[in-house]
Amino acid sequence: MGGNKTFTMIKPDAVKKNAIGAILKMINDGGFRIVAMKYTKLAQSEAGAFYEVHKERPFYGELVDFMSSGPIVAAILEKDNAVEDYRKLIGATNPADAADGTIRKLYATSIGENAVHGADSDENAAREGAFFFSERDMH
Ligand code: CMP
Repeated sequence: MGGNKTFTMIKPDAVKKNAIGAILKMINDGGFRIVAMKYTKLAQSEAGAFYEVHKERPFYGELVDFMSSGPIVAAILEKDNAVEDYRKLIGATNPADAADGTIRKLYATSIGENAVHGADSDENAAREGAFFFSERDMH
C-alpha cells in the first residue's frame, strides 16, 4: 500500500441532499482508498480556523457560516498523485465551470455550496488531515 494522500470534506449541502453514499462511491470508483473518515459537525470557530488562509477574502464569513451549518464528512484519501487526481474528480470550484461527470457538476449548487472540498497541495492535505485526525485514526 502506498501512494500520496489528499484530504476531502463532503460539505453540508451534499450531506443535506443525501449524496454521501453516491460521492463515496465516486471516490472509490476513482481509485482512492479511504485512510480515515469521520461524520462530524464543525463549530463556527473550527470552520474559521480550518479556512484561516481565506480570512481576508470577501466570502470568508459566508464560507465559515456555511461550513458550520450542518454535518460534514471529513476523510483522508490515498492514491498515486492523489491531490491532482482528486481535484480532477471533483471538478472546478464553481460548478458552472465543472466538467461533466465530476462530483461538483453532479452535486454542487453554487460556488459557495460546492458539495466537496479537496486539498490543493500535498502540504495542505497533510495540514488539513491533521486538523481532523490523529495517527491512530489512519488505517
Ligand atoms: P473549497 O475547495 O472548500 O475552498 C475554499 C472555498 O471557498 C471554496 O471551496 C468555495 O466553496 C469557497 N469560495 C471560493 N470562492 C467563493 C466565492 N466567490 N463566493 C463564495 N464562496 C467561495
